[in-house]
Amino acid sequence: MSDALTPQPTTPATPAGATTPSAPAPDGARIIAVTSGKGGVGKTFVSANLAAALTRRGQRVLVLDADLGLANLDVVLNLHPKITLHDVFTGKAALDDAVIAAPGGFDVLLAGSGMVEYSRLTPEVRNQFLSVIQALTPRYDVVLLDTGAGISDVVLFSVSLASEVLIVATPEPTSLTDAYAAIKVLAMQQKRQHVRMVINQAARPGDGRAITSQLQQVLDRFVSTESGRPMRLLHMGDIPADPSVRDAVMRRQLLLLQTPGCPAALAIAQLANKIETTLLSPAA
Ligand SMILES: Nc1ncnc2c1ncn2[C@@H]1O[C@H](COP(=O)(O)OP(=O)(O)OP(=O)(O)O)[C@@H](O)[C@H]1O
Ligand SMILES: [Mg+2]
Repeated sequence: MSDALTPQPTTPATPAGATTPSAPAPDGARIIAVTSGKGGVGKTFVSANLAAALTRRGQRVLVLDADLGLANLDVVLNLHPKITLHDVFTGKAALDDAVIAAPGGFDVLLAGSGMVEYSRLTPEVRNQFLSVIQALTPRYDVVLLDTGAGISDVVLFSVSLASEVLIVATPEPTSLTDAYAAIKVLAMQQKRQHVRMVINQAARPGDGRAITSQLQQVLDRFVSTESGRPMRLLHMGDIPADPSVRDAVMRRQLLLLQTPGCPAALAIAQLANKIETTLLSPAA
């Protein structure tokens, strides 16, 4: 067991405003939060390309930039939105005008960056966020929430809106310890019984599964859910470290459009397949 995963004696984080999952409308889209403990691990890259892969499979997909203060989905997609979620929240624009088409054929709702008012979860932000989600879910099969990193109130609130959580982590010890901390908070505060794992920037095939089971062993020992059972990690896939990813980000292109045959793009396609069969098929 890696030392990095051994829990440190910390006070449990209990941000005000964290809630139990608010669950999607039964007939609406599956809401999947793409989140992480540590920042910069690939959430936005995964959200955007996963959306493109799911769209290619015939799903109606919306990606919502839930990283309210430091949004960058627009940068990755090379979009220059005139209207953002901020304008919707402040009543300056209608929700429909803020939803725009992205290059991969899916829709996005972008957030705008550098707004300090979103560094705190106020009742207004909470209500606005909730009503935007409620208005949009009936129109899609899947809504991906590209959240910020960590366990701040705003991040935890956006994750609470999702029925499923996809944790992105890299094999680095810092990323794994932070993923552990985030998962622990999700078990304790949102009463989640499971979360789904994607290991990004994996060095070798099989690494992600091994890392996930190491993390599971630590959770089995130290974290139990409300039901008394351990929090379950469901390994959804690995994405290899691939120079084409950085290249696509630098060119502000979707990897799936720019280099569809590269190892990372193939891994994203596989992840989309797994998500579709486990979460989006009628039997799921
Ligand atoms: N599989 C990969 N192979 C190589 N580089 C990658 C891979 N995945 C991500 N990266 C690099 O990591 C960078 C950060 O990715 P991204 O912006 O998606 O992270 P993030 O988790 O959304 O960050 P933040 O926490 O700031 O929102 C990318 O710009 C890219 O250069
Ligand atoms: Mg991001």
